[in-house]
Amino acid sequence: MATDGNEMGRNTRLAHSGNNPHDYFGFVNPPIVHASTVLYPNASAMAARSQKYTYGTRGTPTTDALAHAIDALEGSAGTIIVPSGLAAVTVPLLAFLSAGDHILIVDSVYHPTRNFADTMLKRLGVEVEYYAPHAGASIASLIKPNTKVVFTESPASNTFEVQDVPAIAKAAHETGAIVMMDNTWATPLYFRPLDHGVDISIHAATKYPAGHSDVLLGTVSANANCWKQLCETFYTMGCCAGPDDVYQVLRGLRTMGVRLDHHQKSALAIAVWLEGQPGVARVLHPALPSHPDHAVWKRDFSGSSGIFSIVLKGGGQRQQHAFLDALKIFGLGYSWGGYESLAVPVFLGDRTVAKGPYDGPLIRLQIGLEDVEDLKADILRGLEAAAAA
Ligand SMILES: Cc1ncc(COP(=O)(O)O)c(C=O)c1O
Repeated sequence: MATDGNEMGRNTRLAHSGNNPHDYFGFVNPPIVHASTVLYPNASAMAARSQKYTYGTRGTPTTDALAHAIDALEGSAGTIIVPSGLAAVTVPLLAFLSAGDHILIVDSVYHPTRNFADTMLKRLGVEVEYYAPHAGASIASLIKPNTKVVFTESPASNTFEVQDVPAIAKAAHETGAIVMMDNTWATPLYFRPLDHGVDISIHAATKYPAGHSDVLLGTVSANANCWKQLCETFYTMGCCAGPDDVYQVLRGLRTMGVRLDHHQKSALAIAVWLEGQPGVARVLHPALPSHPDHAVWKRDFSGSSGIFSIVLKGGGQRQQHAFLDALKIFGLGYSWGGYESLAVPVFLGDRTVAKGPYDGPLIRLQIGLEDVEDLKADILRGLEAAAAA
């Protein structure tokens, strides 16, 4: 199993990173700075902008505390904080792509990322191409002289294929392309993208860092080569997040390690149990030894989070909907990473390469912090309803 690249324990780092209490009279938590205007002591300081904070869009002690905590976890040179996970995808793409460039995106990417590429990026004159999640080193054959970005997400949204990220990064770097990775599933606790050759690590902090289904936020962390360009684009776009949301995510980080441990244990227990259920054809969870990419996951990741999918044994939308409608504890709602369990029907109609075949309809489960036996009973209700549909 991979280590997380840092000798201090995860929970110790989560408890103490980001801010120094003695900067603010010893208060343990940083202040929530609501700011647009920052005053300068005189005209020459104003003209030179020669002070740490210059305007609300360009950082405050609150955003710095979260950015520094994320840098410590990611091993990055700098982190920007944006108002949603989707903005954490779109801002770096706008920072590094121009008309005439080519981007390779994994076919199993989060759907709104694909939508942004197919609409906005194409309109701006970027050539968009999708690659198979198992491309690995063979992605070299798709890289063109104008390929500027390879965009990965691993494990895949909804179908959980694990990519050979180091091999992809090696191939991309040979021609000077940069690699971005949506690392929301693992969080920097279970996978540190920059240690595996990725240049820019992206998180929907809405999920595990926030952890309570009440905040939208995104973080983008860059290595030293990419930091300046990312940061300049962030300033140019004025895409800054509100201070209360930033504070809530820093607060969430403090308990993310213990929450994730619980999500991990419960999700694995349920995944193993589901493998033995007669109505289930497959469980798509990379920490299961039966998963086709288990060896790559084990090589690169140091843990697994709380979201995976199941494939029902036969049937179609009727069985899928019957399963979902029978659930009493799992809510039917998008997003994940909160304390509560959720289920969604998986739609693969947008895929060009990674679309199966699967033996039946797919359902994605986010395993929350409830008791495992209660969740199993709820899933059994779903399986019985699907079998009867
Ligand atoms: C993998 C992944 N990336 C990004 C996002 C976007 O996050 P947000 O909901 O904060 O925009 C999501 C949301 O579901 C996601 O699943």
